[in-house]
Amino acid sequence: MSSPSRESIAAQFLSTYGRAPAVVARAPGRVEFIGNHTDYNGGAVLGAAIDRYVWVAAAPNAQGRLRLFSVGGKSVLELPSDPGARITGPDSWANYPLGVWRSLKDFGLPQPASFDLLVDSDLPPGAGLSSSAALELATALALLKLAGKADLPADRLAALGRHAENQYVGVPCGILDQGTSAFGQAGHLVHIDCRGPAFARVPFPANAHLWIFNTREKHALIDGFYATRNQECLDAAKALGVAFLADLTPAQLAAKIGALSPALAKRAKHIVEEHARVRDTVEALRRGDLAAVGRLLTASHRSSQHLFENSTPALDLLVDLLAAHPAVLGARLTGGGFGGAVMALTKDNFTAADAAGIARVHRAAHGREPEMIHLQAADGAMLLG
Ligand code: GLA
Repeated sequence: MSSPSRESIAAQFLSTYGRAPAVVARAPGRVEFIGNHTDYNGGAVLGAAIDRYVWVAAAPNAQGRLRLFSVGGKSVLELPSDPGARITGPDSWANYPLGVWRSLKDFGLPQPASFDLLVDSDLPPGAGLSSSAALELATALALLKLAGKADLPADRLAALGRHAENQYVGVPCGILDQGTSAFGQAGHLVHIDCRGPAFARVPFPANAHLWIFNTREKHALIDGFYATRNQECLDAAKALGVAFLADLTPAQLAAKIGALSPALAKRAKHIVEEHARVRDTVEALRRGDLAAVGRLLTASHRSSQHLFENSTPALDLLVDLLAAHPAVLGARLTGGGFGGAVMALTKDNFTAADAAGIARVHRAAHGREPEMIHLQAADGAMLLG
């Protein structure tokens, strides 16, 4: 996939709408480094913004219409005004930018009356790398600039993107994706205490590398698996008499776990222990203990696999292969799960040939070659002018 640039997206805008864009913004995807489904449970999470992005170019529309186009799509979607109801079918991606546009009003922010908008991306969609949040944040920055507001504090930007996704797309996500895309910094992980939320940056370990192995299995949070897990966690918290599962220590949960059905007990154990693993990972990073970080990452996957049950055989095989490799520190599914990608933290001596060897074994078992991407921790959402 070739990466778009400020110039290429301006050229696409010109050929689509017949004039130059007034603004271009860009927001990164993210990996969930550790903290699987902890965010909406009042827990902590570590993410990294990555050097794969969604670009949004926009200009006011003189006819008072809303026009939206995604590079690679068939035609421009043209709406005379706010469609109100959610769009279904092939144009349903437009719910993200339209949701952001509506959210500006909900947040008391200026909203452009009309716009032409064009989207391009080098983020694989459906890989669990948050193309949705990146689209929300890049759209928010571009539309705000059209409405005369050149910036928004990163915490407000993240909250706005999450609001759009919760209210107008219908996914009850937490703050991980939008918070990481907003607060990303090159060479750093983003730590989120999701209760505040409070955001901080933790240096990405020197001599370690991030790789993504995308199974290309469809991963769509909107399909309902995500909402089911979300509801199970809320039900477990209610049955245990706490506001959020992350309120409990592992010992407190152990004392009360008999109150839960076997399925809810597994979900609760995953969340409580995963929240503790995020804290342990931050400590291990601070003392430079990469072996411990790697063990925590793989332990997180095993917990998703056996307790939260949001993994798949393809993701599990990739983790098995990676965890057995001497140049891999740890590996885990990243993001919502039920398909998508595995993230590996590797040593310096893990090579593209090593990655290709793992992909070959995976292909022999699952018939599909995973997409492999060597990533860098990158800066967060920004206006490019
Ligand atoms: C998705 C959601 C996030 C988070 C992760 C799982 O990426 O959008 O809010 O819940 O799944 O950790």
